[in-house]
Amino acid sequence: WLSFEDDIDAILRLKRERNAVILAHNYQTPEIFHGVADIVGDSLALAREATKVEADVIVLAGVHFMAETAKLLNPEKTVLIPDMGAGCSLADSITPEDIALLRQAHPGVPVVTYVNTSAAVKAASDICCTSGNAKRVVESLGVPKVLMLPDEYLAKNIARETDVELIAWHGHCEVHELFTADDVREMRAAWPGVTIIAHPECPPDVVAEADFSGSTAGMSDYVGTAKPGRVVLLTECSMSDNVSVQHPDVDFVRPCNLCPHMKRISLANIRAALEENRHEVTVDPAIAADARRAVERMLAV
Ligand code: 13P
Ligand code: SF4
Repeated sequence: WLSFEDDIDAILRLKRERNAVILAHNYQTPEIFHGVADIVGDSLALAREATKVEADVIVLAGVHFMAETAKLLNPEKTVLIPDMGAGCSLADSITPEDIALLRQAHPGVPVVTYVNTSAAVKAASDICCTSGNAKRVVESLGVPKVLMLPDEYLAKNIARETDVELIAWHGHCEVHELFTADDVREMRAAWPGVTIIAHPECPPDVVAEADFSGSTAGMSDYVGTAKPGRVVLLTECSMSDNVSVQHPDVDFVRPCNLCPHMKRISLANIRAALEENRHEVTVDPAIAADARRAVERMLAV
């Protein structure tokens, strides 16, 4: 922790000088999550909290779609992402043109897009969702059939919980798609009695064999409530690192997978972001209003 001290001190000073806040996703490393973040959470919490920010500058310690969402909700504020290359395999899996073709193939069927998409894709959709509210959003539409894009596995996992017919796309999270049902069985054999929690971006057979599935905030809440003796979080590695601090009595065992996009963010580039006002996230005004509408509609559900 001592090796982080210089950057942490500088970031805390820069936040005061620039009237800045740091919003950090649950997959950020502990020195960011516990050391400099003002607000931490899952994608839904970060979007909700972004509507309440009073600071002049928002640094988004997370990936690009999260920074775009923060900018959509705060058009007057400066939104910075420490590394523009922090993308997402789900966001890269679909374009507005794909949505136009899907609408032609399924006339009248509303389009729900996961927040893990570009602002242009959000603008082409009717409403957004996150893993924390997907079922509620889908059912809020009051229709029998919905296009749920782009995460195939999230759509299939939610389809098991609702009577609404969900038409999926073929996007996958490159981190969660790596977990297999064999992994789950091997873990149960290795650690009898272990509690296994899977993120809903995992393949459906993995979620089916898990004890619980939920967003990153849902996972954290479940550990706090169920207080398992030993737990595996089938998700990004920093989740266990961050959550375990609050639960010293719980044995967090791995495996886990690293998200190379989330891991592009570091104390050093957060410090540089505040020192050099980089990299500013903007949204094309031609799509911003429609994208904002889809996000705000989600937040109203
Ligand atoms: P949540 O934090 O909303 O569960 O999302 C996980 C994720 O992969 C974000 O990129
Ligand atoms: Fe995207 Fe998966 Fe990384 Fe989340 S963990 S940012 S969904 S690639």
